[in-house]
Amino acid sequence: MRKNRIFSQYLNLYQTFDTIMSDQASILRKRFSQNNTQPRQTASRRFRSLSLTSGKGGVGKTNIVINLAINLAKRGKKVFLIDADLGLANIDILLNIAPQFTIEDVLTGRKHINDIIIEGPVGIHILPASSGISEMQTLSGKQQMSMLRELANLKTRYDYILIDTGAGISSNVLRFNAAADEICVVTNPEPTAITDAYALMKIMSSKYQVHHFNLIVNQSEAAEARDVYNRLVRVLNQFLTVDLELLGNIPRDPNFVKAVKRQEPISLSFSNSPAAKAFGKLAQQVDRQSADPVFKEKDTSFWKRLGSWKKK
Ligand SMILES: Nc1ncnc2c1ncn2[C@@H]1O[C@H](COP(=O)(O)OP(=O)(O)OP(=O)(O)O)[C@@H](O)[C@H]1O
Ligand SMILES: [Mg+2]
Repeated sequence: MRKNRIFSQYLNLYQTFDTIMSDQASILRKRFSQNNTQPRQTASRRFRSLSLTSGKGGVGKTNIVINLAINLAKRGKKVFLIDADLGLANIDILLNIAPQFTIEDVLTGRKHINDIIIEGPVGIHILPASSGISEMQTLSGKQQMSMLRELANLKTRYDYILIDTGAGISSNVLRFNAAADEICVVTNPEPTAITDAYALMKIMSSKYQVHHFNLIVNQSEAAEARDVYNRLVRVLNQFLTVDLELLGNIPRDPNFVKAVKRQEPISLSFSNSPAAKAFGKLAQQVDRQSADPVFKEKDTSFWKRLGSWKKK
């Protein structure tokens, strides 16, 4: 009961915030829809891009994106993993790799993307970010364009591009999400994380007209994940025109901490653990979605949408 009351209080707060922001949002929406009047290309797509994102920090995005990448690679897919948590990079740490160059070198024109891609476990390719560089957190228009040009050169090589965003609703996070074909919102069952997940979807839907989201509930069993999903759907149906799909759940697993300390993905170091098995199922579900004819007809021009950054 108390949890529900706190949850509603948070939501009320966000509704008030939304009212204040609505004028600005409607101007942005108008601008965005003007930029997207052209029919989007579908025929030439070979890959699918998914961002993993969250309102609240520390809910498990980076660990999930790495283990999802590994499990997709185990299924024979070519996976490109972008660390888009600019300034607070974590993928390299969790995989115990020390990149000599990072995305920063690409953005400043010192290197091409091809020079900095690192091969990770099971053949996944990684675009590492920088840590502790505050200027990296907001990309300038010029940097965005240079990144776009560089990324566009890679587009035919991969089946999946997975993007690990930072937490929250900063412009970089929102833009990477808007550029991805699919957004996977990660939450855990705590009311604060659920409320922040709602806030993120609200902003993505009003500012970027995203109306479909996937949900991954971390640190939960299937029944609890279903409950979190139902609660979110109830609120979304009340206030937004948004469709939410439960992609899967990852159980709370003590092996996680051990794997993180070893700087090895749990899918490899504790491959029989409950969480590792759940990642196998999650990858299967993502692959199943990709095979769905509805998905195949969807707009997938990641690069174009990333390019629309400069117009906003
Ligand atoms: N299913 C789980 N079971 C147990 N511990 C977990 C689980 N998922 C994540 N953790 C723990 O939570 C911590 C935070 O995870 P992670 O760094 O992936 O979160 P994040 O969302 O990427 O954080 P940030 O918002 O700071 O980028 C990890 O150190 C990991 O040990
Ligand atoms: Mg992270």
